[in-house]
Amino acid sequence: MAAEVDALVDTRGEALRERLDRVEARLRAIAAEAAPPLDRLAGGTIAAGGKRLRPLLVLLAAADPPADDRGLIRAAVAVELIHSATLVHDDVLDAAALRRGRPTVWATAGRDGAIATGDYLFARAFGELARNGRVDEVAVLSDASSSLAHGELLQREDAFDADVAIDRYLWRCELKTARLFEAACRLGALESGGPADALGLFGRRIGLAFQLLDDVLDVAGPVERTGKPRGTDLLDGTVTLPFILARERDPSLRDVRPATPAEAEAVCDRIAATGALDAARARALAIVAEAKAGLPWPDPALELVADGVVARYA
Ligand code: IPE
Ligand code: IPE
Ligand code: MG
Ligand code: MG
Repeated sequence: MAAEVDALVDTRGEALRERLDRVEARLRAIAAEAAPPLDRLAGGTIAAGGKRLRPLLVLLAAADPPADDRGLIRAAVAVELIHSATLVHDDVLDAAALRRGRPTVWATAGRDGAIATGDYLFARAFGELARNGRVDEVAVLSDASSSLAHGELLQREDAFDADVAIDRYLWRCELKTARLFEAACRLGALESGGPADALGLFGRRIGLAFQLLDDVLDVAGPVERTGKPRGTDLLDGTVTLPFILARERDPSLRDVRPATPAEAEAVCDRIAATGALDAARARALAIVAEAKAGLPWPDPALELVADGVVARYA
């Protein structure tokens, strides 16, 4: 990520790096303000890092940031807090042991600790954004958060279903991932008086491609690269595009239900052998191309981020 940020700073200037640092400092301060043991749990989540892609999008979508950029920083912080909150909750739903290369809050503090940590981060996100005094911004974040909740539940409903349609899968990805990317871009646009609809659409598209590629990575691994074990989706029954495509190509995969990490890895290999990963990647690449083509003006920084979504998985 550091190299990508350097390239972005080349196009947008040092102010970008300085804003990212302020976002980081504020995230840490918010975690530290929680009562123990929440301060430690929330702090651990924030300190574990992550790519900070969504706050970056907030900052970049503000192509012409206002002189007083405090509202922009608050929006970027709020989006990352929502993202972090949903990851902490997601790891409860997915029974995931590893996140960002570290044990999850669920694994270290149990279900109660993880739910409370997610709730804290979630609440602080809205508290932070509300300080901008803009109802339109709060509505954007509220819509995205509602979509996320809906998307996560749809995913649970579809668990272990052998007949999930591609459209249903894409709709789920849109709700659980793309809408928050859209919100990030919308908020940046709103803070700088830019075209919120056009930039929101860009965000939604790269968010969708991002989730598709994340689902490819879950099968492709390796854990050193992803910070998450291979085959997590298979183990918890999450039916993703690689699996849907692989089952079309190799019907003997239809009734496969791995029960151990080793079995899941073996199924990952079988999915890869069908060529489904390349097909899923190609679909994501096409969406990224569409996102770039739909930008309201050529924007090297946003184009770099769009390409970065893909490059990470090349
Ligand atoms: C993970 O998002 C959840 C998905 C939407 C796939 P990221 O891959 O952006 O997570 P971090 O913030 O970098 O850990
Ligand atoms: C993404 O879902 C999490 C949310 C958008 C809430 P996943 O379950 O696919 O993400 P990872 O694989 O755990 O990061
Ligand atoms: Mg998960
Ligand atoms: Mg999940």
